[in-house]
Amino acid sequence: MEFNKIYAEDCLSGMKKLEDNSIDFVIADPPYNLSKGANLNWSGDIKNLGFGGKWIKTMETWDDMPLMKYAEFTSLWLTEVKRVLKPTGSLWIFGTYHNIGIVNFTLQILEIEIINEIAWFKRNAFPQLGKRRFTASHETILWAHTGNPKKREYFFDYEYTKETPFPEDLIKKENKQMRTVWDIPNNKKKEELMFGKHPTQKPLRILDRIIHSSTKEGWVGLIPFAGVGSECVACKKNNRNFIGFEINNEYIDIANRRLKNIGLL
Ligand SMILES: C[S@@+](CC[C@H](N)C(=O)[O-])C[C@H]1O[C@@H](n2cnc3c(N)ncnc32)[C@H](O)[C@@H]1O
Repeated sequence: MEFNKIYAEDCLSGMKKLEDNSIDFVIADPPYNLSKGANLNWSGDIKNLGFGGKWIKTMETWDDMPLMKYAEFTSLWLTEVKRVLKPTGSLWIFGTYHNIGIVNFTLQILEIEIINEIAWFKRNAFPQLGKRRFTASHETILWAHTGNPKKREYFFDYEYTKETPFPEDLIKKENKQMRTVWDIPNNKKKEELMFGKHPTQKPLRILDRIIHSSTKEGWVGLIPFAGVGSECVACKKNNRNFIGFEINNEYIDIANRRLKNIGLL
């Protein structure tokens, strides 16, 4: 498959076209399965029982699966990731408590070792209007590898994580080890939004940190759920290659415009 292209294809079939051990890293931002009732109604008032209504920023059919179907889907895409990812590579997966337990369980079943669980603290999170629970203000990111747990051949740029100044991050202290709580505002810069938005778009600054911590220049990243291309743009800006998959053509169109804007297409 060609590098630096987002394929309009389901990642489950797309990944089957990739050779075993052909990918250096994976950044996966899968559906969190939050859009309960998306097929029935587009109202933003729909309550997601047990999870609090205000989590529902999206009402998308791609984000609405019965629980067991979601577990099966998670197992299917992670099985393919395990096959294509090199043992020296890294796998990063975004989630919230709605889905991250299923992802964590599946990784353990597939014997993919979790290296760290990162709490991405969102200082500027939306207030809790219902006043019946704490204000949700973090997402979870799992960092894992498919290699032998005894050898641990994955790449970690310890110096980068310790010595780079991160002035926006009020938890990271200069020249101290980076902790597993990352204080990174979810705000996006103008150029991240100028061609259109995605309801669960990731800011480039968190992707930059992931890429610099665990990958090398020239490496090939697999982006199974490309959305509007944030992970792909971050790869290119940092001189990494990518292969992306996305099922929604409108998102691909925005992603391609972003990639063109940084001189890729
Ligand atoms: C959480 S969003 C990713 C957003 C992305 N991080 C960004 O910043 O633009 C998940 C994306 O996966 C896509 N998607 C859902 N199921 C998919 C599948 N089976 N294969 C490929 N893409 C899929 C959805 O259309 C959605 O755009």
